[in-house]
Amino acid sequence: MKPNASNSGSLAVVGLQWGDEGKGKIVDLLAPDFNAIVRYNGGANAGHSVVVGDERFALHLIPSGVFRPACTSVIGNGVVVDPAQLLTELDGLAERGVDCSGVVVSDRAHVVMPYHKVEDAARERALVERLGIKAVGTTGRGIGPAYAEKVQRSSAIRMGDLLFPDIVRRRVRAAMAFKGPMLERWAPEALAELEEDSLVELALGWGRRLAERIADTSILLHRILDGGGRLLFEGANATLLDVDHGTYPFVTSSNSSALGIGPGSGVPPQRVGRVVGVAKAYQTRVGAGPMPTELTCVIGDRIRERGREYGTTTGRPRRIGWLDLVALRYAVRLNGVTEIAVTLLDVLSGFESIRLCTAYTLDGRAMEEFVPDAAALDRVKPQYEEIPGFSEEITAARSYQALPATARAFIERIERGVGVPVTMIGVGPDRDQTIHRTGEIGGA
Ligand code: IMP
Repeated sequence: MKPNASNSGSLAVVGLQWGDEGKGKIVDLLAPDFNAIVRYNGGANAGHSVVVGDERFALHLIPSGVFRPACTSVIGNGVVVDPAQLLTELDGLAERGVDCSGVVVSDRAHVVMPYHKVEDAARERALVERLGIKAVGTTGRGIGPAYAEKVQRSSAIRMGDLLFPDIVRRRVRAAMAFKGPMLERWAPEALAELEEDSLVELALGWGRRLAERIADTSILLHRILDGGGRLLFEGANATLLDVDHGTYPFVTSSNSSALGIGPGSGVPPQRVGRVVGVAKAYQTRVGAGPMPTELTCVIGDRIRERGREYGTTTGRPRRIGWLDLVALRYAVRLNGVTEIAVTLLDVLSGFESIRLCTAYTLDGRAMEEFVPDAAALDRVKPQYEEIPGFSEEITAARSYQALPATARAFIERIERGVGVPVTMIGVGPDRDQTIHRTGEIGGA
């Protein structure tokens, strides 16, 4: 193949809503066809659950492909890595007999230090308690402060730096020089824990344990591609949380759409072929921010209980809403989605009717387009289409034809609404509770 020719054998899996769409299961299902699974954004704010046999695994940093031993699991340069969390996951998987020898981390990925987590919590608390401003509702994993430090440049630590005591000490000293006064004001109780020598020792200890996994992953990925291999890019968080294209400021701090793949992995966009967008059959959101179709009634409670809609990372109850086709169309366009996986369809069984939001009105005007600005999105009114629900339990369905006609009508309404086919449908948490369809709109 010519240098840089499109490698359409590679693929991205991205969340099309506000996260928790069930991407982990889709990645795990697709993984056997790929040589490497690549995380390119976010950090331990993400929570991926994968059910293998009778066991449920919750991962935050390690790519969901780790259960497929032939795959290399790559944590790319765009990820912010909490090494303590990474080691906990590696140890936990090893204890349960999962082979983690293929997990590698970019030397250019930035390190989440303890002071980033302290700052994350302190800022959120200060916003609410001292300044009377709505908090972002972060996961408290230090994501925003770690990305901010990366962009500041003078005091950040990258994974490759963990192998060099002088660099670590200089960076910790610089970071604490800047943060000390700020934390003294906003989190004085935490400051005693952030002592230079112990921070340096902690970081160097991580470096010693992770040294063999730290590598130039961009070169590794290009070599796989040049050898005819295929990459699967696993988006963390989701499109509507993208720092540039999501519902700012109620977003995460990275490009969590497929647009983040280039900068977050070192692989250029033309080498990503298919983009599988993952969307729940309804909408959920954790943390603050607008959500036009939110249901604050018993319907929402019922979906929350049936769907076990509690955060994998924080345990917070998720906010629930009807499926928002306006937001979905936006996410499909932004990511270049070629096909959709609809997850958790089984959760909607038992409702007499189901609603889909097909348009908005904003200040009395009809709107077909999504409004990523949080303040404006807060004011839109959803316009619904109501379609008949299905009473049957569908968790045992294994083919599209085995679904009730009303469930199929719901899927086909989604396809017409966004213009791309739904090729996978989740009817339960297990690997095999997934229906595969042809890649055509209205296909079998
Ligand atoms: P942060 O990423 O911890 O800074 O949190 C920013 C916002 O993104 C908060 O509303 C979080 O709840 C949300 N968020 C971040 N990652 C995820 C995710 O993987 N699933 C769902 N929400 C997320």
